[in-house]
Amino acid sequence: MTPVTGTLRRIGTSTSVVLIGAPGSGKGTHGVVLAERLGVPYLSTGDLLRDHVARGTALGRRVGACLDRGELVHDDLMVAVVGERLAELEGRGGHVLDGFPRTVAQAEAAERLVPGGPAEVVVFLALPDDVARKRLAHRADGRSDDADGATVEHRLEVFHVETEPLVGFYRARGLLRSVDADQPPDAVLTAIESALRQ
Ligand code: AP5
Repeated sequence: MTPVTGTLRRIGTSTSVVLIGAPGSGKGTHGVVLAERLGVPYLSTGDLLRDHVARGTALGRRVGACLDRGELVHDDLMVAVVGERLAELEGRGGHVLDGFPRTVAQAEAAERLVPGGPAEVVVFLALPDDVARKRLAHRADGRSDDADGATVEHRLEVFHVETEPLVGFYRARGLLRSVDADQPPDAVLTAIESALRQ
C-alpha cells in the first residue's frame, strides 16, 4: 500500500486529521493505524476520558456518569481537556483526532485553539445505524456504554443530533472527505488513505 505521509506533509508543516463518525464506525480501529502510518500522535477523547474514569481522577469522577449514559461531556470541559493535550502534542508533526470535535461549538472553539484549525482533512466514516448496532453488540472489550440497547440508541441519537452537523460544517470549509465505513477493515483503511490523497 502506498504510504500517505508524503502527500499530506506537502500541505503544510504538520499532518492533522480529524475522524468523525457514529459510535462503532471505526474511528478507534482505523485512527490508531492511520496515526502510526502518518507518524503522528493519536488522540482519542473517549480513551482519554475512560482512562481518567478508571484511575478515579477528579476529571474521571466528574465525567463517569456521563460516559455510562452515553451523554456528551460539556463542551467547555472537553475544549479545556483537549486544548491541554494538544498543547502537549505540539511539535510532534500533527495528530489524528478521534472523538473531538464532536459538536459545532467544539469545532468553533477548536478553530480558536489551534491556529489554522485542528485538521487539514476531516474524514467522515459513514455507517448505517443498524451496522453500528451490530458492531457495538459484538465488541470484544465489553465497554459499559455498549452494555444495554437503550444506551447504544441514545449514543446514536446524540451522534445524529450533535455530531452529524459537523459534516456540513467541514464540507463548507472544503475539508470533508466521506468514506464508506461499511466495508471490511482493510478496505476502509485503503479508502481513508485514498481520501487523504485527494
Ligand atoms: P468514544 O470512545 O469516542 O465512543 P463512540 O463515539 O461511541 O465511538 P466508539 O468508540 O464506540 O466507536 P468507534 O467509532 O471508535 O469504533 P471502533 O473502532 O471502536 O466516546 C465515548 C464517550 O466519551 C462519549 O459517549 C462521550 O460521553 C464522551 N466523549 C468523547 N469525546 C467527547 C467529546 N468530544 N465531547 C463530549 N463528550 C465526549 O469499532 C467498534 C467495533 O466495530 C469494534 O469491535 C471494531 O473491531 C469493529 N469494527 C470497526 N471497523 C470495522 C469494520 N470495518 N468491519 C467490521 N468491524 C469493524
